[in-house]
Amino acid sequence: MTDGIATEDLGSLKAELVDSIAAAGTLADLEAARVAFLGKKGRLTGLMKGLGALEGEARRTAGAALNEVKDAVTGALQARRDVLEQAELEARLERERVDVTLPARPRRMGRIHPISQTMDEMVAIFAEMGFTVAEGPDIEDDWHNFEALNFPPGHPAREMQDTFYLPDREDGAKMVLRTHTSPVQVRTMVSQKPPIRIVAPGRTYRSDYDMTHTPMFHQIEGLVIDETTHMGHLKGCLVEFARVFFDVEDLPIRFRPSFFPFTEPSAEMDIGCSRSGGEIKLGNHGDWLEILGCGMVHPNVLEACGIDSARYQGFAFGMGIERPAMLKYGIPDLRTFFEADTRWLKHYGFLPLDVPNVAFGLTS
Ligand code: PHE
Repeated sequence: MTDGIATEDLGSLKAELVDSIAAAGTLADLEAARVAFLGKKGRLTGLMKGLGALEGEARRTAGAALNEVKDAVTGALQARRDVLEQAELEARLERERVDVTLPARPRRMGRIHPISQTMDEMVAIFAEMGFTVAEGPDIEDDWHNFEALNFPPGHPAREMQDTFYLPDREDGAKMVLRTHTSPVQVRTMVSQKPPIRIVAPGRTYRSDYDMTHTPMFHQIEGLVIDETTHMGHLKGCLVEFARVFFDVEDLPIRFRPSFFPFTEPSAEMDIGCSRSGGEIKLGNHGDWLEILGCGMVHPNVLEACGIDSARYQGFAFGMGIERPAMLKYGIPDLRTFFEADTRWLKHYGFLPLDVPNVAFGLTS
């Protein structure tokens, strides 16, 4: 072995190893070369081991010469690795190239359902007024859907709601599919301290099916609770909402007294329209169309939710989504909303990239 450590041999060995490293075409080839030269059983490692058999000056000289070869090999390995890694990165960037300037292809993206679009528009308007969005479950217990909302057991107003009942919960609670979004008022007041300003869009259910009713439909609820909010704020808020939503500046609006167990006083809001030839048109045409229920939150409701009714007050409103959507977008038949007909959706649906926004327009 010691014979192998002649200086001239080392010179040609160095050239051979460095050349073969420079010729490695892939990172795997390079790693194989590293193992073959510097690995446990590598050629240089073998020569290094042979140094032990030498003495004094000879050992120093041979050691220095071997180290030089080793440094050259290590340097060559690193240099080749840098080149191969760079090449690999470039190949990968080329392969995974994404042209972010390509236009989107909305035609292939499906359509936003008019119900979703209408809810998004309504939320956008109320968000502009400082409301945040709250949610609650579709399956409710009797307490949230009725009792906390001041419907005592056996109250006739419960019967007005054509409730779908579900099997009792394990703790014996009566369970229902929520008949309105008002239980989200209750959930919000129980879990948050005033001031409160929320809207709650979502699905609601009543056992009713004809030309103008479907067993599942949508509502959006609004709730404002603080120390000073009064009926004037309720009116201002809803009038502004209706004019922005329907995009009719002088849309006639009136409030009629009404009754809900959870508000006092209660009202319904109508918007001006005409009905000729079975078609409803919005505007100042002498006729009226009811679009929502509202009122000042009943003190009993505040108290049931743990809010001091001597200090806090506020308003609530609840509005269906389907009817305003039909009016705004000229959809003649309620039931088509839920038929999942893709041709219908193509016609009445909205482009996914046109997200409603009050500042830039609710719909384009
Ligand atoms: N929850 C009522 C309904 O479904 C609407 C409403 C909500 C009325 C809030 C007043 C206040 O008919």
